[in-house]
Amino acid sequence: MSTPPDKKDPVAERRILTPGSNLNPRREFLRTAALFTGTVAALGGGLEVLTRRPGAGSAEAQGTDFVRPARPLGPYDTQEAVTSYQQATTYNNFYEFGTDKSDPARLAGSLKPRPWTVRIDGEVKKPQTVDIDTLQSWFPLEDRIYRMRCVEGWSMVMPWLGFPLAGLIRRLEPTGKAKYVQFTALLDTKQFPGQRSNVLDWPYVEGLRLDEALHPLAFMAVGLHGKVLPGQSGAPLRLVVPWKYGFKSIKSIVKITLTEKQPQTTWALAAPGEYGFYANVNPAVPHPRWSQATERRIGELGRRKTLPFNGYADQVAGLYAGMDLRKFF
Ligand code: MTE
Repeated sequence: MSTPPDKKDPVAERRILTPGSNLNPRREFLRTAALFTGTVAALGGGLEVLTRRPGAGSAEAQGTDFVRPARPLGPYDTQEAVTSYQQATTYNNFYEFGTDKSDPARLAGSLKPRPWTVRIDGEVKKPQTVDIDTLQSWFPLEDRIYRMRCVEGWSMVMPWLGFPLAGLIRRLEPTGKAKYVQFTALLDTKQFPGQRSNVLDWPYVEGLRLDEALHPLAFMAVGLHGKVLPGQSGAPLRLVVPWKYGFKSIKSIVKITLTEKQPQTTWALAAPGEYGFYANVNPAVPHPRWSQATERRIGELGRRKTLPFNGYADQVAGLYAGMDLRKFF
C-alpha cells in the first residue's frame, strides 16, 4: 500500500523515505521487513503514479453487467462525485497480485471467480459451504455509493452493488458465543501470483466485531459501477466497511467464521505498531510514519480534510462509545 506522506516538505520526505525511487511508506516498511526475511527481490520500486491503461484488467471479460434502473440516492449514499470505473479498477491495492497499484488490473485475468464457494463456519447454527451464486440469490442487490479512504492517504467514491452483511450474518444464526466475524481470502498461488512471495502472511484475513458486522453500513459487494465485480476489485465477493481504512475491506472472500475471540488480521500481524484491529478512519491519530489529517481524492488535485470515521461518525460513533480510540486504533 502506498501513500505520499502528508508532510510539509514532500521532496525532503521523499528523500528520507525512499532510497531509490520508492515513495511508498508502507512498501518501505515491507522493504525493511523483507530485508529481514530475505524477500527483497519481491518488491519492485516505482513512484506512486496513477496508471491509466485503457482496457487494463479483465472486468468486461468477466461476466454480464448487472442491469440497474436509475434510482434516487438512498440514505446510505454519499452525494460526492463518483470515482470513474477506469480509475477505480486500475489503481488498486490487492497484494495477492503484487504490491504495485497497477499489478491487480494487469494480472487479474488469472483469478477465476466462478465456480466459487464460501465456507461459513464457527459459532453459527448453520455451518455450510455455499456456492457464490446461491449465496448472492439469498438477497436482493442494493446500490451503495460509499467513500473509501485508504490508510495510505488517498480516497475514492465507489458505487457498489451487493447486500448488507447483517442480512447474511442473521441468516446464519450466530450462537450465543459469537462475538466477532473473521473473513478469509482465497489462497491459491496459481490464481494469485503475488502469493508466491511472502510479502504478507497468506491468506489475507480480516475481522470485525459482531456489532460492527451487523451495522447497516457494513456491506458485501459483488458489483461495482453496475458491473460484475472485476478481479482487481475483489471478485466475486468482498467486504466494504466505509468508516474504516480500506485494508479492512477484504477482497475475494472464501471463508466467513464467527468467533468468540478477536480474530487475527493481516496488517495487524504484519506491523502491529502501525495497523490495529479496529482501523477506524481517524484524522486525529496519525499513522506512526505519516499524518492522517488529509487525503488525496483520486482524480482531484490537492488534498482534502479527512473526516472522523470517514464522514460516517453520525452513524457509527456509538459503536465505540467509551473506548479510547488511540489505544484501539
Ligand atoms: N483484500 C485482499 N484480499 N488483499 C489485499 O491486498 N488490500 C486492501 C483491501 N482489501 C487487500 C484487500 C487495501 S490496503 C485496500 S486500500 C483496499 O482493498 C483497496 O480496494 P480497491 O483496490 O478496490 O480500491
